[in-house]
Amino acid sequence: MTTLQRAEAAEHALSQELDRVVVKSVIFTSGERDPRQPVPRPPDDGRLYMMGHDARLPKMPDKPTLFDFFRYRFGPSMHLLQSARLAMKNGVSEKIVLACLLHDIAIAGFIRSDHGYWSAQLLEPYVDEEVAWGIRYHQALRFFPDESVGYRYPELYVKLFGADYVPEPHIQEAHRYARNHKWYMTSRLITVNDLYSFDPSVQVELEEFTDVVGRHFRQPKEGLGFDQSPSAHMWRTINWPTRYL
Ligand SMILES: [Fe+2]
Ligand SMILES: [Fe+2]
Repeated sequence: MTTLQRAEAAEHALSQELDRVVVKSVIFTSGERDPRQPVPRPPDDGRLYMMGHDARLPKMPDKPTLFDFFRYRFGPSMHLLQSARLAMKNGVSEKIVLACLLHDIAIAGFIRSDHGYWSAQLLEPYVDEEVAWGIRYHQALRFFPDESVGYRYPELYVKLFGADYVPEPHIQEAHRYARNHKWYMTSRLITVNDLYSFDPSVQVELEEFTDVVGRHFRQPKEGLGFDQSPSAHMWRTINWPTRYL
């Protein structure tokens, strides 16, 4: 068996223990497998299909808040917490502190590729337009230095993508557009406070940002995912990533 087959077999065994059948979304495995092939599914043994909470995941409250998503669905978020703390230390506005706290939430809990855009879409109904805009464009701006604020091309990117990596035309276009926008500096300040490598000895707690989030994030009373906003479905997918439909 290949590593992938072994992983699939182990996972199959695990999902057999569930009382519901789980079939993965194509995007969860595309690349590891050819997405044109049929999605692997367990044999039909009379069990019902997953349509809600997956017992392998911690259960979320019925009306989940932003912090509940940090606690129960996001990966380690020290990068976000430390970036927000750095922003605070640098004396930027609370809105920018919030933007730093949330700028990579797509990576933390949803989809990595094009994370600036996904993060912005998740947040748009709940934050200032300027905050979402800044988050959307930070992804492109990270590739372009701005000496006026001491922002240099990240050394980490040289290591990750190679010295000869050139951003694709759509990223260059996004940079050109953002550069001339009235909110350019909002997005740029996210990149300035975007810590490349966080210090493992520094612990930052989510609660440090309770007030900033309380003042600048419009938490829906029905809970994120259940409020009929244009991005509610995205939050529901993070809550219930294995639902069949
Ligand atoms: Fe980012
Ligand atoms: Fe980041």
